[in-house]
Amino acid sequence: EEKQVEETYKRYRQLIVPTLPRQKGWMSEHLYMHQDYWFETTIVEGVMYLQEHFKPRPADVLLATAPKCGTTWLKGLIFSIINRTCYNASAKDHPLLTAGVHECMPFLEVHLFTDLPIGDTEILSSPRLLSTHVPYAMLPESARGPNGCRIVHMWRNPRDAFVSFWHFVTGWRRKAQLSELSLCEAFDLFSQGVSPYGPFWDQILGYWKASQEYPDKVLFLKYEDMKRDPKHLVKKLAEFLGQPVTVEEEERGVVDEILALCSFESMSKAEVAEKGNFHGGRPSYKDFFRKGEVGDSKNLLTDDMIRRLEEITKVKFNGTGLEI
Ligand code: A3P
Repeated sequence: EEKQVEETYKRYRQLIVPTLPRQKGWMSEHLYMHQDYWFETTIVEGVMYLQEHFKPRPADVLLATAPKCGTTWLKGLIFSIINRTCYNASAKDHPLLTAGVHECMPFLEVHLFTDLPIGDTEILSSPRLLSTHVPYAMLPESARGPNGCRIVHMWRNPRDAFVSFWHFVTGWRRKAQLSELSLCEAFDLFSQGVSPYGPFWDQILGYWKASQEYPDKVLFLKYEDMKRDPKHLVKKLAEFLGQPVTVEEEERGVVDEILALCSFESMSKAEVAEKGNFHGGRPSYKDFFRKGEVGDSKNLLTDDMIRRLEEITKVKFNGTGLEI
């Protein structure tokens, strides 16, 4: 079977990927366009593998976000909500703090399917908690629609998402000894939709539409709302995940404990975040925590840049009621 997987990757690498349109990469040499979206050099293979071989189960919980929109935070929240009876959220040795958030909820196309040997998702017991940045339309058919798995999406205003991404990529490129990607160049690419898993807006719209069609299956959240009223959203999340918070739990302070465990402070200072490396050490756990604030983009972007993003967003989100 290993041989077969190797053959599959050889096919992607030698036959398919070289034929795809490509653009300047953010984290590797190129971004490749596969089914209307852009992916980094090795990630595109992971995405193809996910599409052809991942077998979703109805009990799966899939966290599907646009990059830099609060994935790490939400991974922590989902894991601690689902596992709150076996792991007390106030325990000092909670798996989120010891094993680390990305072990608790790995990225399909990044951690499991990108490097050989391939991670075996079949051996995981249900409910599997998995994460992805892949657009809705590209998920395997059985993950989508009324009989698909539970999908949680989170987005964020494009200004802050872009700035967060640029900082992340700058750190990554430094470690990988790649030349700097200037803010202006990254901004132009991002505005044209050429960013990893982009166009940024299209990815969000895909999940928004799905959440309108299948509200029981797709929960659509926004980083800024979560920051404003985290307690409300944790309860909403628990309900969506089929494990509503009981009155007794609320009185016991379970929601507050979960929020404290998953706070920026707690997650970024956990030992695993200080020391933990995974996926070859790039990025490290630390790189997923920067400021965790709303509105930091105003410190970096010019008024013109902000206006340009607003204009694009207005056009893209026209008729949806979505506001930044
Ligand atoms: P900033 O770069 O604006 O600080 P992702 O997890 O999708 O990669 O997103 C990363 C962004 O979420 C970063 O934003 C990071 O600081 C922020 N973040 C990480 N953990 C967080 C938490 N527990 N609470 C709030 N924000 C968090």
